[in-house]
Amino acid sequence: MTKDKIELNGKTILITGAAGFIGSNLAMRVLKDFNDVTVVGFDCITDYNPVELKEWRLKQVEKTAEETGNKWIFIKADLSDSKAVFDVFAEYKPSVVVNLAAQAGVRYSIDHPDTYINSNLIGFYNILEACRHSYDGGELGVEHLVYASSSSVYGGNKKVPFSTDDKVDNPVSLYAATKKSNELLAHAYSKLYNIPSTGLRFFTVYGPAGRTDMFYFSATNNLRAGKNIKIFNFGNCKRDFTYIDDIVEGVLRVMQGAPEKALGEDGLPVPPYAVYNIGGGAPENLLDYITVLQEELIRAGVLPADYDFESHKELVPMQPGDVPVTYADSEALERDYGFRPAIGIREGLGKFAEWYKEYYG
Ligand SMILES: NC(=O)c1ccc[n+]([C@@H]2O[C@H](COP(=O)([O-])OP(=O)(O)OC[C@H]3O[C@@H](n4cnc5c(N)ncnc54)[C@H](O)[C@@H]3O)[C@@H](O)[C@H]2O)c1
Repeated sequence: MTKDKIELNGKTILITGAAGFIGSNLAMRVLKDFNDVTVVGFDCITDYNPVELKEWRLKQVEKTAEETGNKWIFIKADLSDSKAVFDVFAEYKPSVVVNLAAQAGVRYSIDHPDTYINSNLIGFYNILEACRHSYDGGELGVEHLVYASSSSVYGGNKKVPFSTDDKVDNPVSLYAATKKSNELLAHAYSKLYNIPSTGLRFFTVYGPAGRTDMFYFSATNNLRAGKNIKIFNFGNCKRDFTYIDDIVEGVLRVMQGAPEKALGEDGLPVPPYAVYNIGGGAPENLLDYITVLQEELIRAGVLPADYDFESHKELVPMQPGDVPVTYADSEALERDYGFRPAIGIREGLGKFAEWYKEYYG
């Protein structure tokens, strides 16, 4: 697919979810790699993950801005507050918007459905409306909207690897349904208002200062506290784990290439719309992933060499909303952006374990 090149030097970039795992890492990378950029971070700092960790991440971003001389502005506000979103667009006029703010997690949606509707649907709608009106009065407006979708849209699909050409109409969680809805809404807005948009289906992202609700992190916390870890579907799961640096590299490349604007035979815009997978394309067996995690936690000194892992493992059935396998077909990403994730779990979990040791002591 032909792409319009987007220059990031000298631009203002809005990153929502900037206190989050992926958002904070992306903000740092943009600040480091480009000149004369202004990064506007937007996040309401939910307590779904520890607030202290989000504040720690924001400090790292601030430090990076100081070191690079680029501008960093942080707005604490909720995406479901349309006025707050419109005010940010009016004041900073972002050229590129990366929407990462969302209520994440599959299991949490069972007990907290409202927050998914507010953040993921109303919040995303507010972003689309703000993008739409960014062109009012002939302004250049938003050149590219990039937003997080998820591998969970593939639900229980049996055909692997998962391709963006596959049918994804059978979500098995409310979270997945909101992410698929984001793709549909983005398509309509791209068609109606010629907004160049790219959705990214991330596959299980992990790494230092990651999300505490995700398996590798919560398992580490539990093992350290001498508690048991639950291994779902009796360990019979495969996941395409993607290290954070690979995700950030993928997002950054995508930000700089927007789907081309063109007119169809009817004289109306062909929607400048695309969706990509970002995943390693090498799914790991959950039990192998746990073995590597154990080894790396010992190597980094988080757990003692004689830790009795076996007595802390509980094999339990599958949870509602979970899927047995995720496996990304990243060919389209490689074809259009010359990149596919490549960092393996030994290196990635090793870096997580080292960060964990330093952060928690
Ligand atoms: N980490 C993964 O494995 C993964 C996989 C697939 C998709 N995703 C998607 O990628 C995006 C980033 O994920 P992450 O892992 O960094 O999650 P995260 O929870 O660390 O970050 C999301 C951030 O959004 C903020 N937020 C939530 N609701 C908000 C609202 N209404 N207004 C403003 N801010 C709000 C939170 O405070 C949080 O800091 C999310 O959209 C997530 O659904 C992540």
